[in-house]
Amino acid sequence: MLLQIRWLIAGLYLCVSYALFVPLEQQSVFQSAPTPENVPENEGGILTTISTELGGEFDAQDILNVAVATHADIWRVTQSEVDIYFPTVDGYNRSSFNNALITQNVTRILSSDVTPPTRWFSDPSSWNLTSLANTTFHSEYHPLNEIEGFIEAMTGMYPDLVQLANIGHSAEGREMVAMRISKPNTKTKVKPGFVLTGAQHAREWVATSTVLYLTHALVSSASEEFAMSSLLDFYDFYVIPVPNPDGYVYTWEHDRFWYKNRQIIGPYEKCVGIDMNRNWGHKWKARADFPTSVTKEKPKAPTDPCTPWYPGHRAFESPEVNNIANYITTLPALKAYIDLRSYGQMLSTPFAYSCKKTPKDAEDQIEAAHGAARAIRLAHGTSFTTGSLCSKLYKAPGNVVDWMYAKAGIKYSYAVHLRDTGTYGFTLPPEWIRPVGEETANMVQFLAEFITLTK
Ligand SMILES: *[C@@H]1O[C@H](CO)[C@@H](O)[C@H](O)[C@H]1NC(C)=O
Ligand SMILES: *[C@@H]1O[C@H](CO)[C@@H](O)[C@H](O)[C@H]1NC(C)=O
Ligand SMILES: *[C@@H]1O[C@H](CO)[C@@H](O)[C@H](O)[C@H]1NC(C)=O
Ligand SMILES: *[C@@H]1O[C@H](CO)[C@@H](O)[C@H](O)[C@H]1NC(C)=O
Repeated sequence: MLLQIRWLIAGLYLCVSYALFVPLEQQSVFQSAPTPENVPENEGGILTTISTELGGEFDAQDILNVAVATHADIWRVTQSEVDIYFPTVDGYNRSSFNNALITQNVTRILSSDVTPPTRWFSDPSSWNLTSLANTTFHSEYHPLNEIEGFIEAMTGMYPDLVQLANIGHSAEGREMVAMRISKPNTKTKVKPGFVLTGAQHAREWVATSTVLYLTHALVSSASEEFAMSSLLDFYDFYVIPVPNPDGYVYTWEHDRFWYKNRQIIGPYEKCVGIDMNRNWGHKWKARADFPTSVTKEKPKAPTDPCTPWYPGHRAFESPEVNNIANYITTLPALKAYIDLRSYGQMLSTPFAYSCKKTPKDAEDQIEAAHGAARAIRLAHGTSFTTGSLCSKLYKAPGNVVDWMYAKAGIKYSYAVHLRDTGTYGFTLPPEWIRPVGEETANMVQFLAEFITLTK
């Protein structure tokens, strides 16, 4: 009750202040350094996408060095581009990228997109969840308490299809849940299992929204566009919507771009948190600097716990990772796994830990990925690239996709980086939640059918 009153007052206050102060112009993308006209002062930060292929003053290593030295935030590193976020325009101005001879696209990220909106607590009954197409739920991002409301509503509305499992506690003691979405089975044969997980990296909000959209699509009437309930005749789905609840709450309450979990890693450590996606127990490494294939320098010392990519002292040190792994090992007949992430529009296969090692199932995995990318494009024309995680990004040991494939034995295991490719990055506007959900539903549908047909 008290909490709701707090939301209410804060919501009212923000409605008024937003109406007065938020500029109408959203963002602009331009090729070179920002000019005074399109850079309002003291308003949010700068996201710059720098090409590492077209030459210029810097190579990838220089770019990362500048980013680290100026305390900028590295948002994305691929083989050809690096995205760097400067929290202030001033920080960008003082960095050597300003006016440098490099190919870069500079985007404004408004502070109103960085500060999560404090707002009215929405009540599940106001979302009209009976229809996938008409619900208002998939039009905005939701804090954890609303996600819990959504999950409860799903179990209440579809008690025959949705069962909850408590899979353990997070580092800060939050209860973690998994949803089993399954049609009552008339045959004795166990259906193949399809696993979906939301964002391990807290700031990847659209991955959280998308896992909720997919959940909703799985229970919605087959007559609705993008509904996937017909898949329940052939599969049981297991969904872990919020793998990193502590980090997710932290992005709503303190730091929109928080990445890791919120684990205290030692009594004398000044930094908090483990990168969950480097903490899985397949080829886990203490020395896991970022990103090794780009820097080409072999890391000499264990990774600094203050870096975003800190892998922990040992595999499964993150209770969240440990809980999910324990749950997965209890499930029968798993055939497909999707790690939802953002951003970059990529569908990636194992392995992440090595660019030289290829899974024995690589050919089937890539064939399915090509079809899945086509299925995504059919929805709204969005193009996704495909390839192994290591070849698309960089060498990263302890990755969930490697573990799901090599240790849990899930043949079709993928990491899916959703939209976009660096215009909004982690601040993808909420209007995009639904189209992203729809194209991802097409992808799941395709993969499920592909796997059934090629069995
Ligand atoms: C950043 O640089 C531009 C010109 O390049 C200038 O107009 C603007 O005032 C600077 N902003 C800050 C916050 O220093
Ligand atoms: C910048 O944007 C343009 C147009 O969207 C695109 O063609 C180009 O590849 C981008 N460059 C970089 C470095 O991202
Ligand atoms: C909820 O959706 C149903 C079906 O689309 C519609 O008939 C009903 O009016 C909606 N209710 C609200 C409160 O929007
Ligand atoms: C969604 O709303 C539209 C317009 O009100 C209505 O025609 C349609 O039947 C609704 N769909 C569902 C599945 O309720």
